Amino acid sequence: MTRNQLVFKTTVTVLVVAVFCFLPVVLFWKFSCRDSPLSKKPAGKMGPCGPLAFTRLRLPVTGLASFPGSGNTLLRSLIQESTGILTGSEYLDQELATSGFHGEGATVHHNGSHVILIKTHGSDAGTRERYDRLILLVRHPKGAILSDFNRVYGGGHLGRATGDQFKYWPEFFQLHLTAWGSFHRDWLTFNKSTLVVFYDDLISDPVVHLRKALNFLRVNVSESRLACAIDQSLRYRRSRSRRQTQLYSPADQQKLDGVYKNITQEISQRFCFSGSL
Ligand SMILES: *[C@@H]1O[C@H](CO)[C@@H](O)[C@H](O)[C@H]1NC(C)=O
Ligand SMILES: *[C@@H]1O[C@H](CO)[C@@H](O)[C@H](O)[C@H]1NC(C)=O
Ligand SMILES: *[C@@H]1O[C@H](CO)[C@@H](O)[C@H](O)[C@H]1NC(C)=O
Ligand SMILES: *[C@@H]1O[C@H](CO)[C@@H](O)[C@H](O)[C@H]1NC(C)=O
Repeated sequence: MTRNQLVFKTTVTVLVVAVFCFLPVVLFWKFSCRDSPLSKKPAGKMGPCGPLAFTRLRLPVTGLASFPGSGNTLLRSLIQESTGILTGSEYLDQELATSGFHGEGATVHHNGSHVILIKTHGSDAGTRERYDRLILLVRHPKGAILSDFNRVYGGGHLGRATGDQFKYWPEFFQLHLTAWGSFHRDWLTFNKSTLVVFYDDLISDPVVHLRKALNFLRVNVSESRLACAIDQSLRYRRSRSRRQTQLYSPADQQKLDGVYKNITQEISQRFCFSGSL
């Protein structure tokens, strides 16, 4: 055997051994690991702006309280997507649970895991007592009541009421206007750390008002996640038809403006707030 033949034979032997011995081992390892329940990591969720997870840090129990139709989902999405920390809710809304709100239904904690804030539309004493901190999101009742009417009769968070559903409007409006006032008066008695965010400010300057909310929550976020969160979240705004904007009579408008003015004045006397009045 020449020297070259020996080298050739050795190389072939090594290759054959590699293919027949190591490859099955590698494949077995790869597939057995993939299939073994023991090797599974807890399901990490991927959001549109990066990973989303509960946090192991024990956070103050923070309420995100708003009257229905005031943009709770929008602010919740902004905070969740920018921080990567899941948000919870006092409700279990399947539409939200399947559209990226993996903490839907989680309140105080999930066996040691925590959410950054918890959505609530409640305002009674029991609800208020559950929270250590509060973000109160306030929207003019004109927009909030119409938006909630669309959610109730138009099928979900981005739907719109049509046709004969408007026969329900006058009664809906009266009930909700009264409820809008009581909801905010209830939260005005909350005497722990509070940030008030106005929906109109959030829409007109999301960067500034999201940053204020993040400061209040004491979390740092990257600029890229902040920008992505804003980009992704503004879709949680419902479009409305021309007909809908004409639902309010001039007398209704006056009533709405009066109630809103009263509440915003009370708020400015009572809380620090994120925007200008
Ligand atoms: C939390 O812990 C309880 C009991 O300690 C257990 O029954 C439950 O399945 C756990 N839930 C989660 C989401 O891990
Ligand atoms: C804050 O509000 C709670 C519940 O309404 C009340 O029991 C408590 O005395 C208040 N604390 C202060 C410092 O006003
Ligand atoms: C957040 O950013 C500030 C200022 O850049 C820094 O001082 C602080 O340590 C950061 N906090 C965390 C938790 O990363
Ligand atoms: C708001 O309304 C309440 C009750 O209707 C009244 O007591 C209060 O003085 C009003 N506040 C302002 C700032 O107008």
